[in-house]
Amino acid sequence: MQERLEAVFGRDGPLAAKISEYRVRSQQLEMAKRVAEAIRDNAALVCEAGTGTGKTFAYLVPALLSAGKVIISTGTKTLQDQLYLLKGRANYVCHYHLERSLAEGRPPGREAAADLQRIARFARVTRTGDKSELADVPEDAPAWGLATSTRENCLGQSCPRFRDCFVMGARREALAADLVVVNHHLFFADVVLKDEGMAELLPACNTVIFDEAHQLPETATLFFGETLSTGQLIELARDARAEALLGAKDMPDPQRLITALDKAARDRRRSGEIADFRTRSPHSTPRSGTCAPRSSRSPSAARVWRAAPTARGRRKPCSNAGATTAVPIVFAGSRCSATRSS
Ligand SMILES: Nc1ncnc2c1ncn2[C@@H]1O[C@H](COP(=O)(O)OP(=O)(O)OP(=O)(O)O)[C@@H](O)[C@H]1O
Ligand code: SF4
Ligand SMILES: [Mg+2]
Repeated sequence: MQERLEAVFGRDGPLAAKISEYRVRSQQLEMAKRVAEAIRDNAALVCEAGTGTGKTFAYLVPALLSAGKVIISTGTKTLQDQLYLLKGRANYVCHYHLERSLAEGRPPGREAAADLQRIARFARVTRTGDKSELADVPEDAPAWGLATSTRENCLGQSCPRFRDCFVMGARREALAADLVVVNHHLFFADVVLKDEGMAELLPACNTVIFDEAHQLPETATLFFGETLSTGQLIELARDARAEALLGAKDMPDPQRLITALDKAARDRRRSGEIADFRTRSPHSTPRSGTCAPRSSRSPSAARVWRAAPTARGRRKPCSNAGATTAVPIVFAGSRCSATRSS
Protein backbone atom coordinates (compact mmCIF):
# COMPACT_ATOMS: atom_id res chain seq x y z
CA MET A 1 0.00 0.00 0.00
CA GLN A 2 2.81 2.42 0.89
CA GLU A 3 4.28 2.07 -2.61
CA ARG A 4 0.89 2.55 -4.23
CA LEU A 5 0.39 5.75 -2.26
CA GLU A 6 3.84 7.00 -3.20
CA ALA A 7 2.96 6.33 -6.85
CA VAL A 8 -0.39 8.17 -6.67
CA PHE A 9 1.06 11.17 -4.86
CA GLY A 10 4.38 11.10 -6.76
CA ARG A 11 5.68 13.60 -9.30
CA ASP A 12 4.59 11.39 -12.20
CA GLY A 13 1.38 10.12 -10.61
CA PRO A 14 -2.25 10.63 -11.67
CA LEU A 15 -2.77 13.57 -9.30
CA ALA A 16 0.21 15.44 -10.77
CA ALA A 17 -1.19 14.75 -14.23
CA LYS A 18 -4.60 16.23 -13.39
CA ILE A 19 -3.90 19.09 -10.96
CA SER A 20 -2.18 22.17 -12.28
CA GLU A 21 0.64 23.37 -10.04
CA TYR A 22 0.68 20.03 -8.27
CA ARG A 23 3.58 19.65 -5.85
CA VAL A 24 4.65 16.60 -3.92
CA ARG A 25 3.88 17.45 -0.31
CA SER A 26 5.53 15.22 2.22
CA GLN A 27 2.90 16.02 4.90
CA GLN A 28 0.10 15.01 2.56
CA LEU A 29 1.77 11.71 1.73
CA GLU A 30 2.52 11.13 5.41
CA MET A 31 -1.14 11.65 6.28
CA ALA A 32 -2.24 9.30 3.48
CA LYS A 33 0.08 6.60 4.83
CA ARG A 34 -1.23 7.03 8.36
CA VAL A 35 -4.82 6.81 7.10
CA ALA A 36 -3.96 3.62 5.22
CA GLU A 37 -2.41 2.15 8.36
CA ALA A 38 -5.46 3.08 10.43
CA ILE A 39 -7.73 1.35 7.91
CA ARG A 40 -5.48 -1.71 7.84
CA ASP A 41 -5.22 -1.91 11.65
CA ASN A 42 -8.87 -1.11 12.42
CA ALA A 43 -7.59 1.82 14.44
CA ALA A 44 -8.74 5.36 15.16
CA LEU A 45 -6.67 8.25 13.87
CA VAL A 46 -6.95 12.00 14.37
CA CYS A 47 -5.24 14.18 11.73
CA GLU A 48 -4.87 17.90 12.12
CA ALA A 49 -3.23 19.91 9.35
CA GLY A 50 -3.46 23.49 8.19
CA THR A 51 -6.08 24.63 5.72
CA GLY A 52 -5.12 23.95 2.11
CA THR A 53 -2.71 21.13 2.97
CA GLY A 54 -4.66 18.75 0.77
CA LYS A 55 -6.28 16.60 3.42
CA THR A 56 -9.07 15.58 1.09
CA PHE A 57 -6.81 13.57 -1.22
CA ALA A 58 -4.82 12.39 1.80
CA TYR A 59 -7.82 10.47 3.13
CA LEU A 60 -9.65 9.83 -0.15
CA VAL A 61 -6.82 8.01 -1.90
CA PRO A 62 -6.20 5.39 0.83
CA ALA A 63 -9.95 5.08 1.34
CA LEU A 64 -10.48 4.33 -2.35
CA LEU A 65 -7.54 1.93 -2.44
CA SER A 66 -8.88 0.01 0.56
CA ALA A 67 -11.07 -2.93 -0.36
CA GLY A 68 -13.97 -2.04 1.90
CA LYS A 69 -16.89 0.30 1.92
CA VAL A 70 -16.25 3.79 3.24
CA ILE A 71 -18.54 6.43 4.68
CA ILE A 72 -17.19 9.96 4.67
CA SER A 73 -19.00 12.39 6.88
CA THR A 74 -18.23 16.02 6.29
CA GLY A 75 -19.46 19.46 7.22
CA THR A 76 -18.92 21.28 3.94
CA LYS A 77 -20.89 21.14 0.73
CA THR A 78 -17.88 21.04 -1.62
CA LEU A 79 -16.98 17.43 -1.13
CA GLN A 80 -20.61 16.44 -1.02
CA ASP A 81 -21.14 17.99 -4.43
CA GLN A 82 -18.14 16.24 -5.93
CA LEU A 83 -18.81 12.70 -4.78
CA TYR A 84 -21.82 10.51 -4.39
CA LEU A 85 -23.92 11.99 -1.64
CA LEU A 86 -26.75 10.47 0.26
CA LYS A 87 -29.00 13.18 1.61
CA GLY A 88 -31.82 13.12 4.07
CA ARG A 89 -35.31 12.23 2.79
CA ALA A 90 -36.49 15.85 2.85
CA ASN A 91 -34.23 16.43 -0.16
CA TYR A 92 -36.13 14.09 -2.48
CA VAL A 93 -39.56 14.39 -4.06
CA CYS A 94 -42.05 11.95 -2.58
CA HIS A 95 -44.38 10.70 -5.31
CA TYR A 96 -47.04 9.64 -2.86
CA HIS A 97 -47.39 12.90 -0.96
CA LEU A 98 -46.98 14.99 -4.09
CA GLU A 99 -49.87 13.16 -5.75
CA ARG A 100 -52.00 13.40 -2.64
CA SER A 101 -51.39 17.11 -2.34
CA LEU A 102 -52.27 17.63 -6.00
CA ALA A 103 -55.43 15.55 -5.71
CA GLU A 104 -56.56 17.32 -2.53
CA GLY A 105 -55.76 20.76 -3.94
CA ARG A 106 -54.00 21.56 -0.68
CA PRO A 107 -51.59 24.40 -1.53
CA PRO A 108 -52.47 27.54 0.39
CA GLY A 109 -52.02 30.34 -2.14
CA ARG A 110 -51.27 30.71 -5.84
CA GLU A 111 -47.50 30.69 -5.51
CA ALA A 112 -47.45 27.37 -3.64
CA ALA A 113 -49.90 25.92 -6.19
CA ALA A 114 -47.65 27.00 -9.07
CA ASP A 115 -44.59 25.59 -7.30
CA LEU A 116 -46.37 22.30 -6.75
CA GLN A 117 -47.12 22.07 -10.48
CA ARG A 118 -43.43 22.74 -11.23
CA ILE A 119 -42.44 19.99 -8.79
CA ALA A 120 -44.91 17.62 -10.46
CA ARG A 121 -43.40 18.33 -13.90
CA PHE A 122 -39.92 17.84 -12.44
CA ALA A 123 -40.91 14.53 -10.84
CA ARG A 124 -41.91 13.18 -14.26
CA VAL A 125 -38.50 13.79 -15.83
CA THR A 126 -35.89 13.63 -13.07
CA ARG A 127 -33.83 10.51 -12.46
CA THR A 128 -32.90 11.27 -8.87
CA GLY A 129 -35.81 13.36 -7.55
CA ASP A 130 -33.22 15.52 -5.78
CA LYS A 131 -34.83 18.88 -5.15
CA SER A 132 -31.55 20.75 -5.61
CA GLU A 133 -31.87 19.96 -9.32
CA LEU A 134 -35.04 22.03 -9.62
CA ALA A 135 -33.76 25.59 -9.73
CA ASP A 136 -37.24 27.07 -10.36
CA VAL A 137 -38.49 26.26 -6.88
CA PRO A 138 -36.38 27.57 -3.98
CA GLU A 139 -35.24 24.89 -1.53
CA ASP A 140 -37.17 26.55 1.29
CA ALA A 141 -40.43 27.03 -0.68
CA PRO A 142 -43.47 25.89 1.35
CA ALA A 143 -44.61 23.67 -1.55
CA TRP A 144 -41.76 21.25 -0.79
CA GLY A 145 -43.47 20.40 2.48
CA LEU A 146 -46.35 19.01 0.40
CA ALA A 147 -44.12 17.09 -1.98
CA THR A 148 -41.63 15.42 0.35
CA SER A 149 -41.98 12.83 3.07
CA THR A 150 -40.98 12.67 6.72
CA ARG A 151 -39.91 9.66 8.74
CA GLU A 152 -43.36 9.67 10.35
CA ASN A 153 -45.53 9.86 7.23
CA CYS A 154 -43.53 7.70 4.80
CA LEU A 155 -45.47 4.51 4.06
CA GLY A 156 -42.35 2.48 3.39
CA GLN A 157 -42.95 -0.90 1.80
CA SER A 158 -46.72 -0.48 1.80
CA CYS A 159 -46.47 2.62 -0.37
CA PRO A 160 -47.98 2.21 -3.86
CA ARG A 161 -44.98 4.15 -5.24
CA PHE A 162 -42.35 2.22 -3.30
CA ARG A 163 -40.79 0.72 -6.44
CA ASP A 164 -40.01 4.06 -8.08
CA CYS A 165 -39.54 6.00 -4.83
CA PHE A 166 -36.65 8.47 -5.08
CA VAL A 167 -35.69 8.13 -1.41
CA MET A 168 -35.42 4.37 -1.72
CA GLY A 169 -33.56 4.76 -5.04
CA ALA A 170 -30.98 7.02 -3.40
CA ARG A 171 -30.55 4.52 -0.61
CA ARG A 172 -30.14 1.65 -3.09
CA GLU A 173 -27.41 3.60 -4.89
CA ALA A 174 -25.70 4.33 -1.59
CA LEU A 175 -25.80 0.64 -0.75
CA ALA A 176 -24.09 -0.16 -4.02
CA ALA A 177 -21.49 2.63 -3.81
CA ASP A 178 -18.01 1.94 -2.44
CA LEU A 179 -17.82 5.39 -1.00
CA VAL A 180 -20.75 7.31 0.41
CA VAL A 181 -20.54 10.94 1.48
CA VAL A 182 -22.95 12.26 4.05
CA ASN A 183 -23.03 15.29 6.28
CA HIS A 184 -22.53 15.05 10.02
CA HIS A 185 -26.25 15.54 10.65
CA LEU A 186 -27.22 12.56 8.54
CA PHE A 187 -24.49 10.44 10.11
CA PHE A 188 -25.75 11.10 13.62
CA ALA A 189 -29.39 10.82 12.57
CA ASP A 190 -28.49 7.31 11.41
CA VAL A 191 -26.81 6.52 14.73
CA VAL A 192 -29.94 7.69 16.58
CA LEU A 193 -32.23 5.64 14.33
CA LYS A 194 -30.15 2.52 14.89
CA ASP A 195 -29.99 3.33 18.57
CA GLU A 196 -33.77 3.37 18.75
CA GLY A 197 -33.97 0.11 16.83
CA MET A 198 -35.71 1.89 13.97
CA ALA A 199 -34.68 1.88 10.33
CA GLU A 200 -31.16 2.38 9.05
CA LEU A 201 -30.35 5.26 6.73
CA LEU A 202 -26.77 4.46 5.92
CA PRO A 203 -25.32 1.28 4.53
CA ALA A 204 -23.03 -0.85 6.65
CA CYS A 205 -19.42 0.14 6.16
CA ASN A 206 -15.84 -0.84 6.90
CA THR A 207 -14.41 2.61 7.52
CA VAL A 208 -15.75 5.94 8.73
CA ILE A 209 -13.93 9.17 7.93
CA PHE A 210 -14.95 12.46 9.50
CA ASP A 211 -13.76 15.52 7.61
CA GLU A 212 -14.20 18.92 9.24
CA ALA A 213 -14.02 16.96 12.45
CA HIS A 214 -13.93 20.07 14.61
CA GLN A 215 -17.69 20.37 13.99
CA LEU A 216 -18.43 16.97 15.51
CA PRO A 217 -18.89 17.98 19.17
CA GLU A 218 -21.52 20.54 18.19
CA THR A 219 -23.43 18.22 15.86
CA ALA A 220 -23.20 15.27 18.25
CA THR A 221 -24.52 17.47 21.04
CA LEU A 222 -27.54 18.32 18.90
CA PHE A 223 -28.39 14.64 18.58
CA PHE A 224 -27.29 13.24 21.93
CA GLY A 225 -27.54 16.29 24.14
CA GLU A 226 -30.41 17.32 26.31
CA THR A 227 -31.76 20.83 26.06
CA LEU A 228 -33.39 22.87 28.77
CA SER A 229 -34.75 26.26 27.78
CA THR A 230 -35.84 29.19 29.91
CA GLY A 231 -39.26 28.79 28.28
CA GLN A 232 -39.49 25.28 29.73
CA LEU A 233 -38.48 26.57 33.17
CA ILE A 234 -41.16 29.26 33.03
CA GLU A 235 -43.69 26.61 32.01
CA LEU A 236 -42.56 24.40 34.86
CA ALA A 237 -43.07 27.28 37.29
CA ARG A 238 -46.57 27.87 35.89
CA ASP A 239 -47.57 24.21 36.18
CA ALA A 240 -46.05 23.92 39.64
CA ARG A 241 -47.94 27.01 40.79
CA ALA A 242 -51.22 25.54 39.56
CA GLU A 243 -50.49 22.25 41.36
CA ALA A 244 -49.43 24.05 44.53
CA LEU A 245 -52.63 26.08 44.54
CA LEU A 246 -54.63 22.88 44.29
CA GLY A 247 -52.77 20.74 46.79
CA ALA A 248 -50.64 22.96 49.02
CA LYS A 249 -52.49 26.24 49.21
CA ASP A 250 -51.52 27.05 52.78
CA MET A 251 -47.84 26.24 52.48
CA PRO A 252 -45.66 29.29 51.76
CA ASP A 253 -42.50 27.41 50.74
CA PRO A 254 -43.61 26.02 47.37
CA GLN A 255 -44.98 29.41 46.29
CA ARG A 256 -41.76 31.14 47.32
CA LEU A 257 -39.59 28.64 45.41
CA ILE A 258 -41.82 28.77 42.35
CA THR A 259 -41.70 32.58 42.30
CA ALA A 260 -37.89 32.45 42.59
CA LEU A 261 -37.65 29.95 39.73
CA ASP A 262 -39.96 31.99 37.54
CA LYS A 263 -38.04 35.21 38.25
CA ALA A 264 -34.63 33.62 37.65
CA ALA A 265 -35.74 32.20 34.28
CA ARG A 266 -37.30 35.49 33.17
CA ASP A 267 -34.25 37.51 34.33
CA ARG A 268 -31.97 35.22 32.39
CA ARG A 269 -34.10 35.52 29.28
CA ARG A 270 -34.26 39.34 29.60
CA SER A 271 -30.52 39.67 30.11
CA GLY A 272 -30.03 38.16 26.67
CA GLU A 273 -27.89 35.33 27.96
CA ILE A 274 -28.02 32.12 26.01
CA ALA A 275 -31.47 30.77 26.62
CA ASP A 276 -30.71 27.09 26.13
CA PHE A 277 -28.56 24.99 28.35
CA ARG A 278 -27.14 22.03 26.49
CA THR A 279 -25.65 19.13 28.23
CA ARG A 280 -24.00 16.15 26.66
CA SER A 281 -25.50 12.90 27.67
CA PRO A 282 -22.98 10.17 28.53
CA HIS A 283 -23.32 8.34 25.24
CA SER A 284 -22.15 11.34 23.21
CA THR A 285 -18.72 11.16 24.79
CA PRO A 286 -16.17 9.26 22.74
CA ARG A 287 -14.39 6.51 24.61
CA SER A 288 -10.72 7.31 24.62
CA GLY A 289 -8.71 5.31 22.14
CA THR A 290 -11.57 3.79 20.18
CA CYS A 291 -13.85 6.76 19.62
CA ALA A 292 -16.81 4.54 20.31
CA PRO A 293 -19.64 6.21 22.19
CA ARG A 294 -19.67 5.14 25.83
CA SER A 295 -23.12 4.06 26.73
CA SER A 296 -25.02 1.47 28.55
CA ARG A 297 -28.23 3.20 27.53
CA SER A 298 -27.56 2.93 23.82
CA PRO A 299 -25.91 -0.33 22.92
CA SER A 300 -26.42 0.03 19.19
CA ALA A 301 -24.93 3.52 19.18
CA ALA A 302 -21.75 1.79 20.24
CA ARG A 303 -22.24 -1.05 17.83
CA VAL A 304 -22.47 1.15 14.78
CA TRP A 305 -18.77 1.82 15.11
CA ARG A 306 -17.84 -1.81 15.01
CA ALA A 307 -17.10 -4.50 12.46
CA ALA A 308 -16.75 -8.21 12.80
CA PRO A 309 -13.64 -9.87 11.30
CA THR A 310 -14.36 -12.84 9.08
CA ALA A 311 -12.54 -16.14 9.08
CA ARG A 312 -10.28 -15.03 6.23
CA GLY A 313 -9.30 -11.89 8.08
CA ARG A 314 -11.26 -9.56 5.81
CA ARG A 315 -13.46 -7.13 7.64
CA LYS A 316 -17.16 -7.49 7.21
CA PRO A 317 -19.06 -4.22 7.02
CA CYS A 318 -20.21 -2.99 10.40
CA SER A 319 -23.89 -3.09 11.11
CA ASN A 320 -26.17 -3.56 14.02
CA ALA A 321 -25.94 -7.27 13.53
CA GLY A 322 -22.56 -8.23 14.96
CA ALA A 323 -19.80 -6.52 16.76
CA THR A 324 -16.35 -7.38 17.90
CA THR A 325 -13.71 -5.08 16.46
CA ALA A 326 -13.66 -1.31 16.16
CA VAL A 327 -14.16 0.11 12.66
CA PRO A 328 -11.25 2.30 11.61
CA ILE A 329 -12.24 5.88 12.12
CA VAL A 330 -10.30 8.82 10.74
CA PHE A 331 -10.93 12.32 12.01
CA ALA A 332 -9.51 14.96 9.67
CA GLY A 333 -9.64 18.70 10.02
CA SER A 334 -7.64 21.84 10.30
CA ARG A 335 -9.06 22.46 13.77
CA CYS A 336 -9.68 19.09 15.36
CA SER A 337 -8.77 20.25 18.83
CA ALA A 338 -11.75 20.18 21.15
CA THR A 339 -10.74 23.50 22.67
CA ARG A 340 -11.04 25.19 19.31
CA SER A 341 -14.35 23.85 18.20
CA SER A 342 -16.10 27.04 17.12
N1 LIG B 1 -0.14 18.18 -3.58
C1 LIG B 1 -0.88 19.19 -4.04
N2 LIG B 1 -0.34 20.16 -4.82
C2 LIG B 1 -1.07 21.19 -5.27
N3 LIG B 1 -2.38 21.35 -5.03
C3 LIG B 1 -2.98 20.41 -4.25
C4 LIG B 1 -2.27 19.30 -3.73
N4 LIG B 1 -3.12 18.54 -2.98
C5 LIG B 1 -4.31 19.16 -3.05
N5 LIG B 1 -4.22 20.27 -3.79
C6 LIG B 1 -5.28 21.25 -4.05
O1 LIG B 1 -5.30 22.12 -2.92
C7 LIG B 1 -6.60 22.58 -2.67
C8 LIG B 1 -6.93 22.42 -1.21
O2 LIG B 1 -7.03 21.04 -0.90
P1 LIG B 1 -8.02 20.51 0.23
O3 LIG B 1 -9.38 21.08 0.03
O4 LIG B 1 -7.92 19.03 0.28
O5 LIG B 1 -7.37 21.17 1.51
P2 LIG B 1 -7.68 20.88 3.05
O6 LIG B 1 -6.41 20.47 3.68
O7 LIG B 1 -8.81 19.93 3.17
O8 LIG B 1 -8.07 22.31 3.58
P3 LIG B 1 -9.25 22.76 4.58
O9 LIG B 1 -8.75 22.53 5.96
O10 LIG B 1 -9.44 24.20 4.26
O11 LIG B 1 -10.46 21.93 4.26
C9 LIG B 1 -7.52 21.83 -3.61
O12 LIG B 1 -7.86 22.67 -4.67
C10 LIG B 1 -6.67 20.67 -4.11
O13 LIG B 1 -7.02 20.30 -5.44
S1 SF4 C 1 -42.03 5.17 0.08
FE1 SF4 C 1 -42.24 6.98 1.37
S2 SF4 C 1 -40.92 8.53 0.40
FE2 SF4 C 1 -41.23 6.91 -1.08
S3 SF4 C 1 -42.96 7.61 -2.32
FE3 SF4 C 1 -43.79 6.32 -0.67
S4 SF4 C 1 -44.31 7.70 1.00
FE4 SF4 C 1 -42.96 8.81 -0.43
MG1 LIG D 1 -10.78 20.04 3.85
